[in-house]
Amino acid sequence: MGQTLAIALTKGRILKDTLPLLAAVGIVPVEDAETTRKLRVDTNQAGTQLLLVRASDVPAYVEYGGADIGVTGKDVLLEHSGRGIYEPLDLGIGKCQLVLAGKRGVNVDKPGLLRVATKYPEVTRKYFDQRGQQVEIIKLYGSMELAPLVGMADLIVDIMETGATLLANDLEVIEPICDISSRLIVNKASMKMKHEKIHKLINGMTRAVT
Ligand code: PRP
Repeated sequence: MGQTLAIALTKGRILKDTLPLLAAVGIVPVEDAETTRKLRVDTNQAGTQLLLVRASDVPAYVEYGGADIGVTGKDVLLEHSGRGIYEPLDLGIGKCQLVLAGKRGVNVDKPGLLRVATKYPEVTRKYFDQRGQQVEIIKLYGSMELAPLVGMADLIVDIMETGATLLANDLEVIEPICDISSRLIVNKASMKMKHEKIHKLINGMTRAVT
């Protein structure tokens, strides 16, 4: 048997959009990865497996070598140190924006400490550091849009895709922070040890996305 390869993915959009790219390099799961309760799924290629993990855990799986390769959003990667991983390819999928948002007419420059609710404390801290503004960051794990509505935060930093969630909650974009898309990440040691296999995969996927 050749070298093994473990690829960390997340159920949902990332899995759906990544499967055709993997198929383009000849990797096809042997069962429906979306519906299975298994966390490790074999593929048609002996030794190549998909690992199904939470999006925010993909960088850790790749950093610590649980997976050789992973696919996750740039939003998740911006919260990670980047230690132990390469980010060789923008897959051009899962496109959205990271934005600063708040209630219509909110005063971002009001005196006193603004409170910002977010799943992305690192990005938020850097963003406000660049503005030279001190803020209090409230770390949440989802549904950030609620925080300004209940008066818990002045602002949120969150991803926006269609804008429907902001609109439905009477919030508006105050400033876009950066564009987001899903990236292929690779464990640095795997890149050395499994160079040929991983390069073949990166080259094949690069062709499939361009
Ligand atoms: C994300 C994000 C927004 C929403 C944006 O939430 O946090 O709430 O999608 O999409 P839209 O602009 O198309 O409305 P997700 O559904 O991933 O759940 P979460 O709140 O648990 O992060």
